[in-house]
Amino acid sequence: MFEIHIADRCLDAPAGSNLLDQLLQAGLPISYSCRSGHCQSCLIKAEPGTLPDAARAPLPAPMQAEGWLLACQCPVEQDLHLRLYDPASDGLPAQIEELTQLAAGVLRLRLRPARPLRFHPGQHLVIWLPCGTARTFSIASQTDSPTLEFHLQQHAGGQFGQRLLQMGVGGQCHLGNASGHLHYQPDWQDRPLLLLARGTGLAPLQAIARDALQQGHTAGITLWHWQRGDEPCYLKDELEALAQSHPSMQLQLRQQQHFESDVRSLRAPSRRALALLCGSSAFVEQLGKPLFMAGLGRAQVLDEVFTRR
Ligand code: FES
Repeated sequence: MFEIHIADRCLDAPAGSNLLDQLLQAGLPISYSCRSGHCQSCLIKAEPGTLPDAARAPLPAPMQAEGWLLACQCPVEQDLHLRLYDPASDGLPAQIEELTQLAAGVLRLRLRPARPLRFHPGQHLVIWLPCGTARTFSIASQTDSPTLEFHLQQHAGGQFGQRLLQMGVGGQCHLGNASGHLHYQPDWQDRPLLLLARGTGLAPLQAIARDALQQGHTAGITLWHWQRGDEPCYLKDELEALAQSHPSMQLQLRQQQHFESDVRSLRAPSRRALALLCGSSAFVEQLGKPLFMAGLGRAQVLDEVFTRR
């Protein structure tokens, strides 16, 4: 047994147990979502000491240096002295600037942060609401925009979107740091890009396409998006305007029913091509084999999986 000291309490935790599980069992107010080290909503701060690298590795170096770790990735292997993440003091305040229904089930959220936030288009961050609920979303806007844009998939019974709508324009929330490997890299300039998204996985990939074009990407960019149901792609008009002004960009805005035949026909445009995928874990898994058959090795594929709690 080890001791976990937190919020004026001392918890006994079995050796090797998961820190997040222990905190939840004790009824402590800690947010979580993916449980896989991706969303960063389970942030917690530890006093200096020996902490498992796996619990800190997904975080940017400055956060590691400050003692932050991810509770879901932390086995209890020693006594711990912890402090809960407090979005009001640890996060960046932001105000809701816009809430727009882009299509059935897709909400556009624009937030104005109290001060500029460092990020690359396509990375993700945690949004904390005043009620303590937190979710991770990909950034759909560019660094020169005064607001941060997010596309929220609205699920039946989904509380986050409902709470945002109740708060309305002018509502206040807090933001975590931006992180994630899914963003444009300047040394990709002459490599063809294949961007493949389903649902609101389009949010980060269209942001990456815009970023690439702004940075003078010279090779072709092909953006595939599969939309469920009969509705057109929820960003059809904006994307068609973008493609019209950039002949190197090709759009494939498809319905989900064509997904399987579409992916069978995928071909890597060159041996240096890169594929970026974003969507549910099922979507990313479904693309693994077809991309390999299309001539894209594992090192040429980057993905971001959306998890749903
Ligand atoms: S719940 Fe720990 S990183 Fe997502």
